[in-house]
Amino acid sequence: MDLLEKIKQNASKLNKRIVLPEGTEPRTLQAAAIILKEKIAQLILLGNPAEVQQQAKALNADIGGATVIDPKTDARRDAYADLMVELRKSKGLTKDEALNLLNDPLYFGPMMIKSGDADGELAGAINATGDVLRPAFQFVKTLPGCSVVSGAFLMFVNEKFGHDGIMVFADCAVMPDPTAQQLAEIAVSSAQTAKAIVGLEPRVAMLSFSTKGSAKHPMADKVIEATKIAQQMAPGLLIDGEMQLDAAIIEEVGKLKAPESKVAGKANVLVFPSLEAGNIGYKLVQRLAGAEAIGPVLQGMAAPINDLSRGCSVTDIVNMVAVTANQAGSEF
Ligand code: ACO
Repeated sequence: MDLLEKIKQNASKLNKRIVLPEGTEPRTLQAAAIILKEKIAQLILLGNPAEVQQQAKALNADIGGATVIDPKTDARRDAYADLMVELRKSKGLTKDEALNLLNDPLYFGPMMIKSGDADGELAGAINATGDVLRPAFQFVKTLPGCSVVSGAFLMFVNEKFGHDGIMVFADCAVMPDPTAQQLAEIAVSSAQTAKAIVGLEPRVAMLSFSTKGSAKHPMADKVIEATKIAQQMAPGLLIDGEMQLDAAIIEEVGKLKAPESKVAGKANVLVFPSLEAGNIGYKLVQRLAGAEAIGPVLQGMAAPINDLSRGCSVTDIVNMVAVTANQAGSEF
């Protein structure tokens, strides 16, 4: 069975409540009908119920099994606003400001999760990454012991690479210029994502333009430091670097450039030194090599909230709801 099928079947078993804030968006509604039919998750659509139903009808999308909630009138607004004020006490958020923010489904969704009324969220079909992530950063926050949210892609590549052709790339979506400490946290989160979602035994390569000191530059030094921190943070994980991409994934090059490494030549998790490298890197593999890319799977957040590309398809939304449900059912 292929990985996506496994992820969907596992999602069905978990039966999680996933909130979709873009409740009137056509691809979201078409995906919702498929998700409900295949019983991948319980769905909560946010928006004006009449508009949601009207749009679904126009699309011939059967969303009868979904719960539709209007963030502007829902009875839980008052309780959510109180919680928001409490969570943003240090920033001086007032109740009126909180109530106003709750009119925005991108705030209402995370507050449902924070209050235990939903298990995960997927948005971004019509909203920019920052607008999806900011409410999550502010109210759902990061996992204990983790200070940084990052975005991984599951890359379906040639079978001779990674774990039967599946690799995890990160960070491709969130942190423009991570510090060494943040890069180390991204490496550990990525290993956890690889384990929890793909079920692989992670071998994490910390990528650079240098392998084991072959080049001297502050940018390579950052990756060297990040590698040391990550190894200290997670001594049980195979994390190594700094190394070039070819040393990470090509056995002969790995043996030549980093003969002592247990990761070189066999890496299945690639950690990029910056968002520029990661975002360009995954798109190169996707577009030039024709690899399927699923994500970004956001990692490091206290509850699963995922962001879609605005160019996403109906299938992307279905797949990402299944991934979000799997994250909601896993330990990280
Ligand atoms: N992890 C955890 N918390 C974070 C992170 C992070 N990575 N980044 C910011 N925060 C927190 C901050 O600590 C702050 O918290 P506070 O309000 O409690 O103090 C809050 O979020 C807002 O922080 P800002 O620095 O003001 O962040 P801003 O909202 O300006 O930017 C953003 C965050 C939008 C994610 C920014 O880093 C960004 O634009 N990243 C690039 C996203 C992007 O465009 N990706 C490429 C497209 S995605 C794709 O192609 C798949």
